[in-house]
Amino acid sequence: MCGIVGYIGHREAYPIIIKGLQRLEYRGYDSAGIVLYDEAGTKLAKTKGKVEDLKKKAEDTISTTGKLGLGHTRWATHGVPNDTNSHPHYSNSGNLCIIHNGIIENYESIKKELIKRGYTFTSDTDTEVLVNLIEEVKKTEDVKLGKAVQIALNQVVGAYAIAVFDVNKPDEIVVAKLGSPLAIGIGENEYFVASDASPFIEYTNNAVYLEDEEMAIIRLGKEIKLRKIKDDAIAYPNILELQLNIEEIEKGGYDHFMLKEIYEQPRAIQDTYRGRLLADQGIIRMAGIDQNLEKFLKADRIIIVACGTSWHAGLVAEYIFEDLARIPVEVEYASEFRYRNPVITEKDVLIAISQSGETADTLAAIKMAKERGAFVFGVCNVVGSSIARETHAGAYTHAGPEIGVASTKAFTTQITILSLIALKLAKEKGVMSDSKFHEYLTQLENVPAKVERALKSNDAIEEIAAVYKDSPNCLYLGRGFNFPVALEGALKLKEISYIHAEGYPAAEMKHGPIALIDEQMPVVVIATKQGHYEKVVSNIQEIKSRKGKIIAVVFEGDKVVKEIADHVIEVPETEEFLSPLLTTIPLQLLSYHIALMRGCNVDQPRNLAKSVTVE
Ligand code: M6R
Repeated sequence: MCGIVGYIGHREAYPIIIKGLQRLEYRGYDSAGIVLYDEAGTKLAKTKGKVEDLKKKAEDTISTTGKLGLGHTRWATHGVPNDTNSHPHYSNSGNLCIIHNGIIENYESIKKELIKRGYTFTSDTDTEVLVNLIEEVKKTEDVKLGKAVQIALNQVVGAYAIAVFDVNKPDEIVVAKLGSPLAIGIGENEYFVASDASPFIEYTNNAVYLEDEEMAIIRLGKEIKLRKIKDDAIAYPNILELQLNIEEIEKGGYDHFMLKEIYEQPRAIQDTYRGRLLADQGIIRMAGIDQNLEKFLKADRIIIVACGTSWHAGLVAEYIFEDLARIPVEVEYASEFRYRNPVITEKDVLIAISQSGETADTLAAIKMAKERGAFVFGVCNVVGSSIARETHAGAYTHAGPEIGVASTKAFTTQITILSLIALKLAKEKGVMSDSKFHEYLTQLENVPAKVERALKSNDAIEEIAAVYKDSPNCLYLGRGFNFPVALEGALKLKEISYIHAEGYPAAEMKHGPIALIDEQMPVVVIATKQGHYEKVVSNIQEIKSRKGKIIAVVFEGDKVVKEIADHVIEVPETEEFLSPLLTTIPLQLLSYHIALMRGCNVDQPRNLAKSVTVE
């Protein structure tokens, strides 16, 4: 779970790699490193910390010239984050240099073998073992770098996206992939290598995404050569034309990506249903569903697998699918599902939800479900991601790049697409009247304008944040469709402000958490005037009578909760199943402001990474 960038061509590699690493910091930011090559040889700089620290160190300590280079931003797996464990890593001879995203699981046995053959190691990393294994193969088999990489990779167990070059042959970079993403950008007499296309998007729109177990030899002045790692068979590059746009991945005037992404939600939700939701015609058009309608209609049940925020979107979808389309749904943490030998049959449809499309546990759950005969449908944001490619069919959320580690627009766009699917299936199954269907389509179309209105509470939310920024704990309560929103609100707060927060179904409070309530405890309650409103009001009374502090999220015009809550945040009224799209907005803003006031790094919270590509 790291970011890798490489360049070979006619431009100076340094600025391309530094900027590329900054764009990939969402993948990890424990340490960073860069190697550059020019006629004088290689120059290496690495440091614990962020890419900004690397930039300072590189500019102070090495000459930053060279038209070949590799860079790495790390999320530590093997070895603590320090300068030595940072990538790139040289082989013992100093001839080979590598960057690696992934884990080599059998590195210890390989390391022992290499030590017996006289190799020494300076770092604790699996990556240094891999580069020396490649060197050993190259020497003993007397083969070129590409062949040595292929033979070596057949000896390793694990996951990798690697880029490696030989200082004696600096017109070539060899790359390979298994389980971690790797894109190659193809320019005019120049090539780029990266974990995703963001580092090279201003230079070229042409890219090849390596498939698992593929490697490529990238040589200046030549076309890239693709091979299968297992048997060396030639593979043919599928060159895609990318749609990504550079403004989308920059902050656009906001102080943080998270805030930008919160404010992008009206547009993102609209982009999610654009061309799919045709309210005036009473149609939902989604190719992935249309082409596989029978699978969904005949399914015994839908199993949703995901992690983190995507799992919360899955929980909202459970309520929506069951209520609207009357299809039984189970929602599973991908990490649990993949290891507990679940009963899966050919009559199951599995929906995998993932913003990044790279989450290792979700990917593994998909593979298992496919092996057991289920039809697997992906809901991803990142186009061309591993999950998007591994699933039988799917639908992109089209939220645009989400860079802030805390998911915001990913959540609301996932709920949007899952609502579209549920509505479509309800209609096709004949369990929803035409008039209801039309009414709901119109309501969904009105959501972006309502989100826009909900965002207007930002200043009021900032004031509430100032009151509770020093609280050590916080409870979040919601019921029905808004129970998962309570979980999501708590996750947002804890991951970016490091305040301990828990989400509960409101009625569960009296089965334990109520013991925590005292005058110090802020409780965020989602109390929209629908469904179980009166019951939630009773829960608020129970908290108030124990002196807890209530921050209530209500529909505009609410009078009852206003009387009893300490703070009230209004969002526009909508259909109950769509209310999570609105109630989640103030919770995102609350956690943003609290984290900021506590001096936390909102976009890059400690210990986290944007996509979790390791178990
Ligand atoms: O890319 P994915 O949606 O598969 O990621 C899943 C989780 O890692 C992710 O939602 C994580 O929980 C976020 N940090 C939440 O803000």
